[in-house]
This record gives sequence, structure tokens and C-alpha cells, in this order.
Amino acid sequence: MKKNIIIALTSMLLFAGGAFAAQKSAPEPEFIPTIDIQLPEPQTSGGMPLMDALKNRKTDRSFTSQELDEQTISNLLWAAYGINRPDGKHTAPSAMNLQEVVIYAILPKGVYYYYPQKHFLKRIMKEDMRPLVGNAPLTLLYAANLTQQSKINAACDIGFIGQNVYLFAAANGLGTVFRGSLNTAAIDQKLELRLGQEVLYGQSVGYPASKKR
Ligand SMILES: Cc1cc2nc3c(=O)[nH]c(=O)nc-3n(C[C@H](O)[C@H](O)[C@H](O)COP(=O)(O)O)c2cc1C
Repeated sequence: MKKNIIIALTSMLLFAGGAFAAQKSAPEPEFIPTIDIQLPEPQTSGGMPLMDALKNRKTDRSFTSQELDEQTISNLLWAAYGINRPDGKHTAPSAMNLQEVVIYAILPKGVYYYYPQKHFLKRIMKEDMRPLVGNAPLTLLYAANLTQQSKINAACDIGFIGQNVYLFAAANGLGTVFRGSLNTAAIDQKLELRLGQEVLYGQSVGYPASKKR
């Protein structure tokens, strides 16, 4: 009898743990090679010294039309919010480790959802959504599940990701602007976000049109 109670309690705890883990990482979708992008392995060592990148960090608002290649997108997304430890945690911290932020990448060839665990981009729409978010070759949209996390913590978590992107851009000759002014109502509708999810900020990235500091 006692043994049965212990087994039941253990199963309940395992189930709760599983549910919590599932909440953090979205279920892995099917990868369709002709549509989705398996990003190349990110280059996670070397690069510009941190202090030099901090010296270079700034906002750029106009970009050339040159697109980012897959290696650069891979490195950038890993720096932004990739997995940097075996326990599945990210390059950016998250309040209470809820990991409620998800990233959409708006590229000329469509709208993609970033899966940090597999480091791949799942295309969710083939339409060029840039008329809604500006003409940068890449715009990241940061959405959070606000049923999981308060808006203030979600905004803070996104700020860390944004600074990772700023530093990556500074270290790699890219320009970037973090964006609070976005037509989020139209964007949320277009992305058909899950209940509770909202885009809170965006960040455009490209090669700067001017080299001026
Ligand atoms: C929360 C937040 C929202 C921002 N929103 C916008 C924006 O909508 N459009 C824009 O051009 N810049 C935006 N910025 C960039 C700031 O204008 C920029 O960081 C500021 O002018 C200082 O320039 P610096 O980044 O070169 O130091 C935003 C920055 C933050 C932190």
C-alpha cells in the first residue's frame, strides 16, 4: 500500500516536471529541408574582444540591401539566444528561468521561427513581411508568452537578448537597431500568435549604409 502511494507520488512529480520542461521548450516540429533552414554550426569562439565590441556598440538605422549569409545568421542567433550549456539554458538570462521569449526572423524569403535547441529556422510563412517591419535584410521579432511571465520581466529578458545582438553586430561589422515602435497589433495578427503571446520588441540587422560612428 505504502509502496503504491510512493509510486503514485513519484509519477505525479515526474509528470509535473515533464509539463514544466515542455512549457519551456516548444515541441520540436518536423524539419522540411526544402523550406526550413538548418543553420550551420555556430562559430562560438574567437571574434572581437568584448571590450572592443562594447566600444563599438551603437544603433544604426539604415542598411544596405546586402543579405546576411546563413553562417552570419547562425552566429547571430546563437549569440542572441542560443543554447550555451548542456542543461539547455541560453546565452541570455531569463527571469525565474521561464524562457518565455521566442524569436521570429523576418527574412526576404519568409517568416521563420527560431528553435534554439536544434538551432534551426522553421518557415511559418513564405510571404515577405518586410512591408510591416521595414526593409532591413533581417528583422528579429521578440515575442513572449505573457501567461507565463509578467510583462516587465519579459521586457527585461528581451533587453538582454537585444544587447547580445548589439554586441554581436558591433563585433562583426553589422548595424542594428532595437525597436519599440512597431505596429505590434498588425504583426501579432499576421503571425497568428498563440494565445497569450505578444510581440513586445523587434530588432533590425543589416550592413550599415554609412560607416560613420
Ligand atoms: C527599449 C528601446 C526601444 C527602442 N525603440 C526604438 C525604435 O522604435 N526606433 C529606433 O529608431 N530606435 C529605438 N531604440 C534605439 C534608441 O533610440 C537608441 O538606443 C538611442 O538613441 C541611443 O543610441 P545608441 O544605441 O547608439 O547608444 C530603442 C532602444 C530601446 C532600449
